[in-house]
Amino acid sequence: MSRLVIVSNRVAVDKGASRGSQGGLAVALNAALRRFGGVWFGWSGEVSNSTATEINATTVDNVAYATVDLRQSDYDEYYFGYANRTLWPLFHYRLDLVDFHKRYSEGYFRVNNLLCSRLLPLLKPDDLIWVHDFHLIPMGGQLRQAGCRQRIGFFLHTPWPALEVFRALPQHEAIMRMLCAYDVVGFQTERDFRAFGDYIYREAGGSVDENGIVNAYGTQTRAGVFPIGIDTETVTKYSEKEANSRLTQRLMTSLGNRDLIIGVDRLDYSKGLIQRMSAFQHLLENYPENRGRVVMMQISPPSRSDVPEYVDIRQELEAAAGHINGAYAEFDWVPTRYLNKGFARHTLAGFFRTSKIGFVTPLRDGMNLVAKEYIAAQDPEDPGVLVLSRFAGAATQMTDAVIVNPYDVESTGEALQRALHMPLEERQARWRAMYADLCRHDVADWTKSFLDVLSGVDVTPDMFVV
Ligand code: G6P
Repeated sequence: MSRLVIVSNRVAVDKGASRGSQGGLAVALNAALRRFGGVWFGWSGEVSNSTATEINATTVDNVAYATVDLRQSDYDEYYFGYANRTLWPLFHYRLDLVDFHKRYSEGYFRVNNLLCSRLLPLLKPDDLIWVHDFHLIPMGGQLRQAGCRQRIGFFLHTPWPALEVFRALPQHEAIMRMLCAYDVVGFQTERDFRAFGDYIYREAGGSVDENGIVNAYGTQTRAGVFPIGIDTETVTKYSEKEANSRLTQRLMTSLGNRDLIIGVDRLDYSKGLIQRMSAFQHLLENYPENRGRVVMMQISPPSRSDVPEYVDIRQELEAAAGHINGAYAEFDWVPTRYLNKGFARHTLAGFFRTSKIGFVTPLRDGMNLVAKEYIAAQDPEDPGVLVLSRFAGAATQMTDAVIVNPYDVESTGEALQRALHMPLEERQARWRAMYADLCRHDVADWTKSFLDVLSGVDVTPDMFVV
């Protein structure tokens, strides 16, 4: 059996004891690595001036974790610059925030090359290589140029932008050529896949057939849709166990018999946090019966705090939450709770179970696993309602959520009112349909589907619908 080599910007070392605190994706990738045996390779998360060429290696059972530090200029240009200030806003349709610099793009290709050169000596001839996310698109092409003959797959966790947006990227052609060098390219949704296909037809003059076979730039690749799942069973178990935990009880006591609306997102401008606050304000303003009766809790751990746009969103969110509290708070009720920190996954599962509404309204999101975790954590007898942005990849699967347009804050406020008063039977019917789907398509199913295609075992036609 081939070994599996996972390559991603961040590497989640599986230390056994720390497994419970890892995200579902890290757990699933580690499970796949243990099954195949192999290597997880990427950036160490450290910046260091002298050791950029050293490999830090740890082995746990049959899995080796190999990481490299980045030099300050590499970090600045590749991660801070091109990944976080060019590709991230562009892939999330925020052309107004995109910062193009030649040195960012040069750093991006240079660091990808550096990572390739460190990875190559670790490879065995029949390895399956699986590269993840927008930080590392060039690796496929660069590995090929360096003579790597193994099968290489790529999965994009973020959205793939529409043709006109992607064409705004000065390096759009170079990036696309690199993407086409992989054997398999996976997207979260059909929307992303179609946007990619659009570019292939209209800009690259290539073709995509009904099996997802892409011919462009003189090479052939296979593109498909692989919507990522969560470890549904674990989240459900956590939520059942946490229902009576000390923290969940404290939360419930603090609420009294008020209804809780919960949002959990990295503090990122793509998450629609300001619009979300406005929608909640609309609810309070237009349905005054909710004043004193409903609390909105937004949990947003800081993210990429050295990027100026993330400093701005933090200030804006603090101001928006403060504004609502200033306008509506009473001596015995504060409408919004904004927490600038993270919680363990199991704690969140308990919080989700306690919440009447899961409020997930990104302006653009590859998938959004919070939407899925919220549903997995509900009590089947008395489930809450998911209010979900149509611009989250999850909305293409979770069609029984209350789907909203997050830019339309008035309608989103109306949707909150509807969700707060939804009859039990309707809540149960919606929840049952979504939960069944989450059980069928969990994260283990996702890794298996992708790796089956990459290793040439399985071809499921609906993954390749054009
Ligand atoms: C998104 C990206 C991931 C990234 C994560 C956290 O989910 O798709 O690749 O790891 O954000 O961002 P960070 O920059 O802290 O790694």
